[in-house]
Amino acid sequence: KDLKDLVDATSDNKDSFSATMEDFKQLFDKFLKQEFLGDDSSTISWDKIRPPSKIVNYDECDRNLNEERIKTLLSGLVVLKLNGGLGTTMGCTGPKSVIKVRGEDSFLELVIKQLQFLNEKYSVDVPLVLMNSFNTEEETNQILPNYQNGKVTIKSFNQKQYPRFTKKEFKPVPKNGNKSAQNNNEWFPPGHGDVYDSFYKSPLYKELKAQGKKYIFISNIDNLGATVDLSIIDHLEKNKIEFAMEVTPKSLADVKGGTLIDYEGKVKLLEIAQVPKEYVEEFKSIEKFKVFNTNNLYVALDAIEKNLDKFGNVELIVNHKVHEGVDIIQLETASGASIQMFENAVGFQVPRSRFLPVKTCSDLMLVQSDLYDLKEDMTLSKHSKRGDKENPLIELGDEFKFVNDYLSRVPKGVPSIVDLNKLKVSGDVKFGANVVLKGDVNIKADKGKNIEVRDGSVLDNENLSA
Ligand code: UTP
Repeated sequence: KDLKDLVDATSDNKDSFSATMEDFKQLFDKFLKQEFLGDDSSTISWDKIRPPSKIVNYDECDRNLNEERIKTLLSGLVVLKLNGGLGTTMGCTGPKSVIKVRGEDSFLELVIKQLQFLNEKYSVDVPLVLMNSFNTEEETNQILPNYQNGKVTIKSFNQKQYPRFTKKEFKPVPKNGNKSAQNNNEWFPPGHGDVYDSFYKSPLYKELKAQGKKYIFISNIDNLGATVDLSIIDHLEKNKIEFAMEVTPKSLADVKGGTLIDYEGKVKLLEIAQVPKEYVEEFKSIEKFKVFNTNNLYVALDAIEKNLDKFGNVELIVNHKVHEGVDIIQLETASGASIQMFENAVGFQVPRSRFLPVKTCSDLMLVQSDLYDLKEDMTLSKHSKRGDKENPLIELGDEFKFVNDYLSRVPKGVPSIVDLNKLKVSGDVKFGANVVLKGDVNIKADKGKNIEVRDGSVLDNENLSA
């Protein structure tokens, strides 16, 4: 009834708003069943978990495709970037994808340039599709006109906009569906699990299918390792695989990442939130659960339509938040969780280099630094001097937590870290130009003190404090 009232009180785009509320109701009904009717269909029985049997190894792919095959594969490809999130961990108020990562280029500009390079080199037209949300659409669109030069077709669609609801009475927070800048925070984008349905319902799905597109490669826009890899797509096509998820070996740093399992005869993504408390330590073990989800996903376009009625069955992520002092709930889903809906779905074990996400400002420092080179095709590769050695461990204090603060502390560029092992920084610290950090470096400014690392300083296994 509350949702109906919300629709009745809406004057803008009433029909599309009403359709979105129908979709929301499906998610909400699932939540109610779980909460009140004891529906435990999403609960995992630990003893039914088996190691994943369908993991393709990257080495099984043909790495020597000829030019004709490359062109065929590229002609059938759509690159879709998930761009609906705000990057709240890094304090972004707009899309994370507009942060400048290399020189003047943002995540978004890097991916556009990567596709421009591919399209020019092979005379093809691989389109870039962005899934935006009401939070990211406007700022993203401001950048796009600079790239409407014909070398890459950029299209976008919006994911859904659902109402937040109160935890106590389950009442929607918004009073109507008329959107304005003022009521934005009464709504939420329901996670990237939304991608299949929203893409299908946008005009793009039919348009791209009519153009003969076969696979979409979906990835997080902040994963700089998620570049087009045709040998994977070649393997998918030859083996008629509907869905693939790139996974990579788990290290102790990624024990919380979702992992693949076999469950009741199907491949399934197991997330930490689904694990019963008593098994959480076991879930984190890298011996039992060896790989984790990079969220680089491949879906055959046909398979989206075929499985459309199944996406609503995917596991819910119940996200508790506080809105203007009131406890609220938002219901989300994750794109990788749909792996269980597809026929012939596999995990694809790829090298770690295909997972280079930027979740924190420490990650940002890594990719902005000389640890990575920007190649001619606009992809990043580890500096040859670093070889196979692991990335330095960077721990930046709270003063560097939000991206604007971080940038104001490295105003003349980030230090050289190619010879760094470990960096720990805390307090009011600022780096000058051309600073070089080597070995283990600690910089600590106590409360009320500050440290300016001067231009050209070389800190080799040093401790600075003030
Ligand atoms: P994450 O869920 O990891 O979040 O998104 P985030 O945006 O990186 O940062 P935090 O957690 O808010 O700090 C993974 C990818 O999915 C997209 C994001 O834009 C990112 O590319 N995403 C996330 C969506 O497209 N829609 C959503 O509703 C959520």
